[in-house]
Amino acid sequence: MTKRLVAALALALAPVALVLLGCASAQLVAPDVGATAANRETLVHGRKLFVAKCGGCHPLHAPSSLSDAEWLQVLDEKEMAAKAKLKPADREAVLAYVTAVNGRE
Ligand code: HEC
Repeated sequence: MTKRLVAALALALAPVALVLLGCASAQLVAPDVGATAANRETLVHGRKLFVAKCGGCHPLHAPSSLSDAEWLQVLDEKEMAAKAKLKPADREAVLAYVTAVNGRE
């Protein structure tokens, strides 16, 4: 390979390398779940409660398995919040968590 060819190849591949680097660094950023600093604590708390209290009677249901409205129904009408003996603020935190990470409306 001539030096000129190597230089031309390097130039041609530079944008590809930049794009790849861009993607790699983008993956290090936390997914945007609409969390602000104010409610991040609630989400962490909600996740803890969800894992600790919602998997005792049945396997944990993936947050993504239900829409926001369905989660609301499950917690209230199907009485899962009551079954898990969640206080009102804890019910809020669990609902905030599952609806933030379910990736659905
Ligand atoms: C005391 C036992 C118990 C606890 C604790 C409990 N569940 Fe359940 N869960 C059940 C039973 C029994 C069913 C199935 C009967 C039904 O659908 O009403 C069920 C069903 C479900 C379903 C499926 C509903 C559907 O429509 O198919 C979801 C989702 C669910 N639970 C989520 C939760 C979440 C979230 C929590 C924590 C807040 C929780 N569960 C805590 C007993 C429990």
